[in-house]
Amino acid sequence: MNSDSDDCYDSDATYFCGSDDDDGDGNFGVEADGLLLEKWIPPLFYLAKGHLQTIHNDVNKLENVCLACWEKGTCPHPFFVGALCQQCKQRLLRTMFSKTVDGFHLYCTICGSKSNACVSCSNGKCYRKYCVNCLNIWTDHSDKLIKNSDKWFCFLCLPEPNQILQAHHNWAQKVLLFHEPLAVYASRALYWKRQPLRVLSLFDGIGTGLVALRKLGIEVEVYYASEVLTAAATVSRTRLGGVLHHIGSVGEVTQQRLEEISPIHLLIGGSPCNDFSAINRFPKDFYDPRGYSRYFFDFVRVLNLMRKINGQHQHLLWLFENVASMPQHYRETISRHLDCQPAVIDAKNFSPQLRRRLFWGNIPGLFTVHEQQLTQDGESLSLEKSLMPNSGRRAAQEKIRTLTTNTNSLLQGRTENCDEDDNLQTDVLWLQEIEHVFGLPRHFTDVGNMSRTDRQKLLGHAWSVPVIASIFSNLKAYTV
Ligand SMILES: C[S@@+](CC[C@H](N)C(=O)[O-])C[C@H]1O[C@@H](n2cnc3c(N)ncnc32)[C@H](O)[C@@H]1O
Ligand SMILES: [Zn+2]
Ligand SMILES: [Zn+2]
Ligand SMILES: [Zn+2]
Repeated sequence: MNSDSDDCYDSDATYFCGSDDDDGDGNFGVEADGLLLEKWIPPLFYLAKGHLQTIHNDVNKLENVCLACWEKGTCPHPFFVGALCQQCKQRLLRTMFSKTVDGFHLYCTICGSKSNACVSCSNGKCYRKYCVNCLNIWTDHSDKLIKNSDKWFCFLCLPEPNQILQAHHNWAQKVLLFHEPLAVYASRALYWKRQPLRVLSLFDGIGTGLVALRKLGIEVEVYYASEVLTAAATVSRTRLGGVLHHIGSVGEVTQQRLEEISPIHLLIGGSPCNDFSAINRFPKDFYDPRGYSRYFFDFVRVLNLMRKINGQHQHLLWLFENVASMPQHYRETISRHLDCQPAVIDAKNFSPQLRRRLFWGNIPGLFTVHEQQLTQDGESLSLEKSLMPNSGRRAAQEKIRTLTTNTNSLLQGRTENCDEDDNLQTDVLWLQEIEHVFGLPRHFTDVGNMSRTDRQKLLGHAWSVPVIASIFSNLKAYTV
């Protein structure tokens, strides 16, 4: 194997050069929407009662109205018989998996509002929440529930045949469809059964996708990895072995190869980002076949082929990642080809590193607003926790700027020696500490006598494991 990839410069590294504009262009969805989501209030319940009367009189159908705002509904509600308008769909996409660290949901399951969302389902596997307004509409004992909901099993967990609000019996599958881009939504039936995952990872690097799945305890039947850099493949093979099979360059992932390895349940990848990054002064045009964006089209090619090969028998989950600093028109082009908008996720909410990335995909919960600033296993987010114990140093700052393949980006992760005589010396982060920052086991990249710069290069390209684990966490309900 030979490397044909240069350093993956990342304009987030401009932070290191003194730019403190953490929020960049400020038009990124998740944070900005957060406030609006908090404020949305469902219309008063007697508006709903009026609509229900027309449905009762056979003048209208529940399938035509939005169960959240009672305007015209244009797509099916994922949980219940009834519809959602586009705006309410977007809100539900962001709120339906938003939970506290203890697993309690934060927003109403029916309308996605946070205000007065007060009653939680008592089923420990559910903990979904319902707002006063929706309870008033759909039950005749909302007062009692609000006072005492200790043993209440919700509309999903204990459906009652006579109730007007009816849960889909296959709502878990409907949730998958709800996350599917519009163009493929209508045309496909959906098949999914709980099973160990068959994964295809393009541009796999050091196998962070598999690390995240293992961290979650999700069983993986096979993990095919396309990667050309020998050093990266050596790390993932040595550390992850077993289910991981390298299948060479993405160019070799042909239709015939895909048919051989099908079905695939989960397709993931973050293609080389050199031309996408704002720091690259001479980026190639997006459609220039000599540029790095050609790898993006490989992802699209494989996605479309695999969808076709899986056919009606197997739904395909997918995730495409890239840098948040790319020019807006690149982002729009990618969104157009993938037929959806990206979620913007910053590793700073999950780890001690600022690392903003765009994620396109159809993984349930990808667009969730993350309330808590905690990693999956409750580890602290401060850099101090990543330092090697007893190293006699302390972190000079709480979080570090984006680590890249550039050696200088290590400098800002300086630590201070804390000798008793307070003789302050500075030091850079050690590689084992960077690995910890990325959510990897310490020494993960220490294989095959690899040099420090080579190890740093691999880490500079890598995904932040707690971010990927957070995205994959909702797959637990769909796997064994
Ligand atoms: C942005 S990095 C992705 C790193 C990965 N997500 C991780 O966590 O380690 C892009 C990767 O694509 C790889 N790559 C470049 N050309 C490739 C090709 N033709 N086929 C497969 N992978 C390739 C690079 O070696 C690099 O590891
Ligand atoms: Zn609506
Ligand atoms: Zn509600
Ligand atoms: Zn429930």
